[in-house]
Amino acid sequence: SGSNIIIPCIIHVVYGNSQENISDAQIQSQIDRLNKDYSATNSDYDNTPSEFQSVRSGDTQIRFEIVEIKRYANSRDTWGTNDAVKAAYPPIEPDRILNMWVADIGGGILGYAQFPGGDPATDGVVMSPQYFGDASVSGGSNFYLSAPFDQGRTATHEVGHWLNLRHIWGDGNCSADDFVNDTPVAGNPNYGCPSLGTNSCSGGGNDMFMNYMDYVDDACMFMFSAGQDARMQATFSNGGGREGFLL
Ligand code: ARG
Ligand code: ZN
Ligand code: CA
Repeated sequence: SGSNIIIPCIIHVVYGNSQENISDAQIQSQIDRLNKDYSATNSDYDNTPSEFQSVRSGDTQIRFEIVEIKRYANSRDTWGTNDAVKAAYPPIEPDRILNMWVADIGGGILGYAQFPGGDPATDGVVMSPQYFGDASVSGGSNFYLSAPFDQGRTATHEVGHWLNLRHIWGDGNCSADDFVNDTPVAGNPNYGCPSLGTNSCSGGGNDMFMNYMDYVDDACMFMFSAGQDARMQATFSNGGGREGFLL
């Protein structure tokens, strides 16, 4: 019920060579991936194991639209995670526009994000170009993307942080919380494509490793939980930090 929340997006492509200057089609495939994942219309949604089907999120009603693609040539090789790319190319109206920088972070890092409530001058998400886009679409095999992170789930994950989601293991041991009730406690991130029944905390219930906020391969993550949806929705209320997107 109700209407969708539209998130206008500006994509800042900061490239050091021609392949990092990813195509409009690659960028659009990423936005399409976000819209599929946040509406639970992703084709792998029904891979959710039966034990989690009652707590998986449906349509979050959060949608993404490209406002503008900006392109900047820069001879710098890598940008790290210290927001240098945002200082060089500042965000535009971050209170009502999601700024995404596509720039080579380096160090094998896929992406990073700022939580709600932070400095507007550094607000947004950053992803390396080879992890920004969806190789599974028609024509996608020509994109500059690197398996097994070539289906656009890095942006799904980073935008989750931007909407206040924590990692599913709470960035700690079995007593660290992600502040979401319906995600079982986990004691560590999961990687690759784990087997059903993986459980990192005895007595805590199986890990929800197929959640977008774990660290598994793109092909092995396909759901948010209902509790995570509620936590994201709360950012659009007064004091939530993303209320400017409702106006
Ligand atoms: N390491 C990054 C982060 O913590 C992103 C992980 C994304 N995982 C993926 N399968 N694409 O924000
Ligand atoms: Zn993360
Ligand atoms: Ca939890």
